[in-house]
Amino acid sequence: AENGISTPPMGWNTWNRYGCQINEQLIKSSADMIVSQGYRDAGYTYLNLDDCWQSHERNSDGNIVIDSVAFPNGLRVLADYVHSRGLKFGIYSSAGRQTCAGRMASSGYEIQDAFAYAIMGVDYLKYDNCNYDEGVSAKTRYEAMARAINATGRNMFFSVCNWGTENTWEWASNYGHKYGHSFRTHDDIYNDWKSIVEILNVHATVVSRSGKGRWADPDMLEVGNGKLTVDESRTHFSIWAAMKSPLILGNNLTSMPRELFNIVTNKNIIQVNQDALGLPAKRILHIPHDKDIWAGELTNHSMVLVAINYKDQKQSISIDVNKYGYSGLDIVAHDLWGNVTIALEKKRYINNVIMNPHGVFMVKLTKGTIDHHFSDSLKSHSI
Ligand code: DGJ
Repeated sequence: AENGISTPPMGWNTWNRYGCQINEQLIKSSADMIVSQGYRDAGYTYLNLDDCWQSHERNSDGNIVIDSVAFPNGLRVLADYVHSRGLKFGIYSSAGRQTCAGRMASSGYEIQDAFAYAIMGVDYLKYDNCNYDEGVSAKTRYEAMARAINATGRNMFFSVCNWGTENTWEWASNYGHKYGHSFRTHDDIYNDWKSIVEILNVHATVVSRSGKGRWADPDMLEVGNGKLTVDESRTHFSIWAAMKSPLILGNNLTSMPRELFNIVTNKNIIQVNQDALGLPAKRILHIPHDKDIWAGELTNHSMVLVAINYKDQKQSISIDVNKYGYSGLDIVAHDLWGNVTIALEKKRYINNVIMNPHGVFMVKLTKGTIDHHFSDSLKSHSI
């Protein structure tokens, strides 16, 4: 499964909106809506169950017993249903005895569980970090599951949900596909602006570890969950996309306001996320409580710049693109949200763009070249 490996995975997950309130009907209708509303065609192809599909026990064969109230027909039929809609099926467990919600998890049963998932038709495993025995390193616990998945012979995206503890990036990304295809860098996202700002501050320090098949994961999206303003939602989505983060939605699909749907399905922004180079944008300028500028290299010698306004008021920003390593006589600057070309003064200055409070300006530069020195600094940390 190249999907998720050569470009960041895109999908939808139950947790941010529904927590443990999940069931067969929710999953089926979500699968239907991902297709009918156009999310699948926009690229969101994984449908992932998070915590609470399990009961609290294993049966006499040692298999995890599925919560029979929520999923009376088991998960195989659900996986088939999801696949029949042209989607991929994701599931969740923990590298401990129980999941974070206290349901049965996989430690000591990695091989048995991995084979059960493979037989079920699982395409994505998010592996959490709760309720483990002290004294066993995360690396060891995650390696056990990574090896078990490999042993099944089924392609599964392996999402290491270790919240950045024990320097996840040191081992989850060092061995390419062996220990994980993505690694969380922070504990859980919350549905507010403060959480997004905090995550960015941590993520900025490790995003250079990110690259193809080893995506740094700042957690799932909160667009549509009621608290972020439209501008904050746009900023959240823009910077996640530019950092090459997994784009996993966590919204209520039945009540997504049109303007927010338009944000998460914006073709220009998704194209940046899915760019074939797979290089994360990096924070080049950071003025706390004021603004950021992030830069990332894209295919065809193009570059993306993302400016974030941390102020509670509007602010105007001007950017000398030469300062970000981009130069040339015919540079084209495409404002990705406005979907318009912007004129550059003296072939290098973007002047006085107004950013809304907590808003974003995202521009793609093409037809120029990236200064060699600058482009080296945009490369991922070597593995
Ligand atoms: C912690 C993870 O970080 C969350 O994304 C979610 O999976 C919960 N655990 C589930 O209990």
